[in-house]
Amino acid sequence: TGQEALSRIAEASDLDTLEALRVEFLGKQGSISGLLKTLGKLDPEERKVEGPKIHGLRESVSDALGARRDALETAALNARLASETIDLSLPAPEAPRGTVHPISQVMDEIAEIFADLGFSVATGPEIEDDWHNFTALNMPESHPARAMHDTFYFPDRDAKNREMLLRTHTSPVQMRTMLAQGAPLRIIAPGRVYRSDSDATHTPMFHQVEGLVIDKDVHLGHLKWTLETFLKAFFEREDIVLRLRPSYFPFTEPSVEADIGFTLIDGKRVIGGDPSKGEGGWMEVLGSGMVNRRVIEFAGLDPDEWQGFAFGIGIDRLAMLKYGMDDLRAFFDGDVRWLSHYGFSA
Ligand code: PHE
Repeated sequence: TGQEALSRIAEASDLDTLEALRVEFLGKQGSISGLLKTLGKLDPEERKVEGPKIHGLRESVSDALGARRDALETAALNARLASETIDLSLPAPEAPRGTVHPISQVMDEIAEIFADLGFSVATGPEIEDDWHNFTALNMPESHPARAMHDTFYFPDRDAKNREMLLRTHTSPVQMRTMLAQGAPLRIIAPGRVYRSDSDATHTPMFHQVEGLVIDKDVHLGHLKWTLETFLKAFFEREDIVLRLRPSYFPFTEPSVEADIGFTLIDGKRVIGGDPSKGEGGWMEVLGSGMVNRRVIEFAGLDPDEWQGFAFGIGIDRLAMLKYGMDDLRAFFDGDVRWLSHYGFSA
């Protein structure tokens, strides 16, 4: 009977018993389900009387099952809360923590040093057009750096019908900043650059920081002082010796490449000291020069009024020298063991 079913439900002492009762009454073969099936065989008058009764019974049994389930679950939870305790004084389990990538760290160090010298940070796109990357920097069509084997070109041209490429250096940011801000200027532009090159000392993507100063009466002495001051601060050594060598870049005239002196201590290369006075040697770290008059003109400035110097430093190389890493490719492998050894805490 209905009463009997309801009292058995009310007495069910655990969820398993309750589930067994649900099957017994409401399951496919359940007793109430059986009653519902008999309705079809009754004549209409009887069905009018019996129908609501059986449906009412089904509903009350189903409600009772639900209510009992809630009661049992609440009781189980209360029992757990009463028996378990949480010790809030226990140390939390250690969550894995990332580190700052050495390249990011070194970029920050560089930006900070130049900020002290009054340089702000400028940026430009990594997908460049050949006008900003080459033409405006006085690199003619025939320049070898424009060749396919050095530069990643895109198959399509842009809206101005310029060839698109992955910038091969940060120097296009010189032109973009001069065009956007005019003169005077004092900026650095750190970022990713791309060349079709890959071995132990070259990766197809690497990092440079560009520097550009445009002002009146700027000369090579300002460039040399700036580079020396930067390198001393970066390597945290006063005995940094810089050697400037005449070089050639289409966008600077005159152009100089800078080598930094290292000495051998117990057979290891240590940055600093004068290699011409003992054991050691020179390592090339950057290209630079006085901004070519043609580049100043391309930027819409009068080269008789404005001069400047520019430099491009290889960030990856500098990071390796400062932190004693020996394989450039490790920077980009994403090996967590290497990163946690060389990475910096945030
Ligand atoms: N863009 C040059 C390079 O990638 C470096 C450079 C920058 C030289 C600025 C002179 C002035 O090799």
